[in-house]
This record gives sequence, structure tokens and C-alpha cells, in this order.
Amino acid sequence: MTKPAGLKLVERDAGGVDLAFRADVLAGLAEAQKAIPARWFYDDAGSQLFEDITQLPEYYPTRAETEILSTRAAEIAGLIGAGRAVVEFGSGSSVKTPLLLSAIVPSAYVPLDIAGDFLRASSAALSEKFPGLPVLPVEADFMRRVELPAEVADLPKLGFFPGSTIGNMIARTATDLLRTMRATLGEGALLLIGMDLVKDEETLLAAYDDAAGVTAAFNINLLERVNRELDGDIPVDAFAHEARWNDAFARIEMHLVARRDVSFAVSGQSFAMDAGTSIHTENSHKFTKRSGQMLLAAAGWEPLARWTDADKRFSLVLAESRPPRSAP
Ligand code: AVI
Repeated sequence: MTKPAGLKLVERDAGGVDLAFRADVLAGLAEAQKAIPARWFYDDAGSQLFEDITQLPEYYPTRAETEILSTRAAEIAGLIGAGRAVVEFGSGSSVKTPLLLSAIVPSAYVPLDIAGDFLRASSAALSEKFPGLPVLPVEADFMRRVELPAEVADLPKLGFFPGSTIGNMIARTATDLLRTMRATLGEGALLLIGMDLVKDEETLLAAYDDAAGVTAAFNINLLERVNRELDGDIPVDAFAHEARWNDAFARIEMHLVARRDVSFAVSGQSFAMDAGTSIHTENSHKFTKRSGQMLLAAAGWEPLARWTDADKRFSLVLAESRPPRSAP
């Protein structure tokens, strides 16, 4: 697949190491509370494990969001209108993206993703499903402004950010990303964004610590990825997956807890951890109607409409890009 000129590609060293991945891991492991940003979960193995998570009985967000997209399709399409280029932040999922694309009569589909192989596979599947639709994948880190393919430059845009991936960022990063999306999409853009809702702790904890251990495997894969790609020797068996509810920040946290004292090296740097300490690998913030609206407004997106599933577990918000203003 040829890439249009001028796209921001992932930067790698001569050995193929993703430089941003290495920098994030080394900086995060040097912190007192060790941490690795959640976006690094999604190599090919991690992306496949995440697809498996979405099928789990405990993991309600995907089913709830799919329910909204299928039951409210006509209403959503009416507000969006026909002819927009859909820019999806992340590779299209097997169910949600086709639901949106069949509802709204888009002029093009541009998935942006850092995981190149997964991006190409899901783009090929979508091209087959929508033969007349230009599918223009861009391998890029959408946390930075992305130059979109020339073919869509003059088309009105709809950003699509399903799954409540926005909840994986702390407020400051989420605001930066939502602003960056406005820059990527340009003037007059709309954004359709999934936001998971605050609910009882038991449901939330089960969703992030399923009985079959798929979420545990997803979390552990991050250590395996570090070993594979960054010449690490982390003793993976010495770590246990843990999901915690942090009430002050309304978020589920995922940690990899050391079962014993461990020491290891990554890219030639040594690290040690005491038993019981953890590497914090993910935040998954949950929203209320107000907190979701505030987050969008802080980044210049004005909510136009909001839908929830019948059980009120998940919300989908349509927002419009607004220029900055100083008056109330
Ligand atoms: C992608 N993201 C919205 C998922 C979530 O629910 O926070 C990632 C995930 N982590 C564990 N399970 C699912």
C-alpha cells in the first residue's frame, strides 16, 4: 500500500526499535511509581488480545457502544449528514466502524494507527466490505497532529474515536489529544466519541479482571513486548495482573504487581523492584454526563447530542469543533 507524501511515520532506529516506545519505557521504569503508557499495549499481539477482550462476557463497553450505534443509527446519521470523510483515531474495529460507515454515507475512510500490520489488515477487510469507498490508512501516532491524505483535504471531516479510549488518558493528556484532533481534522469538523460511564465497582472490576484471564494476558503482553523489542530480560512470571478502582479519579487502574523482589535490564539499563510494588500500566477513566461534557468543552468541542445504551452503561457523544472565544 503506498503512503501519501508528507505523513508522520513512526520513528525507528537502525535496528527497527520504536524510539518513542523505548523512551517511554525507560523513563517510566525510572519513576518511583513505575509506569508504562497504555498506548504501548497495542502491538499485533496486544491488538489481537484487545479484540478478544471485547468479546468477554464481563467486558460490557463494546456491546453497549455497538447497541447505541445500531439502535440510534438513523438519528446519528441525520445529525452528521452525508459526504464527510471519516477519520478514525485507531484501526477500525470489526463491528463498530462498519455500523457507522453504513449509516452515514461517507466520502472516504481514513484510519490512523501506530500498529501498522493491524492497520493494514483491518483496512483491507473494510475495503472488501465497502467496495466503492476510498480507504486511506495512515500509519501514525495520532497523539500528534497528523497530515491527512491529499484526497480528503477539501472534504468535511467526522472524527471517530469509539471505545472510550479517551478514558485511557489523564485529563491533561486527554485535553491535549482532543485539541490535536481539532488540528488534524480542521475547521467545521464533527467528532463522534465513546465515553464509558461511572457505575458500580463490582461491574467495573470484573470488566478489567475477567475470569478467563484474557485481560491479565493483555497486561502481561506489555512486558513480553518490552522483552521482545527492547532487549529486555524481565522475568514475566514474577508479575501478576491487578485491576483497582481509584475513586478519587473515577478510574480503573491496571497494574503489574511484582510477586517477589525482581531485577532486570531493558535496553542495557538495570531496574529493581520490591515484592508488592507495581508497574502502573493503564488508567481507564469513567465519566458522568457532566465530566464528559467538561472534558470536551475544555478542548474546544461543543456537544451536540448524547446517547446511552438501554442500561446506561456507556455514552456516545457527537460534538462540534468550536473556535476559541473569550466571552462567556
Ligand atoms: C481501549 N480501552 C478503551 C480499553 C479500556 O477499557 O480502557 C482497554 C482495556 N484495558 C483493559 N481492558 C480493556
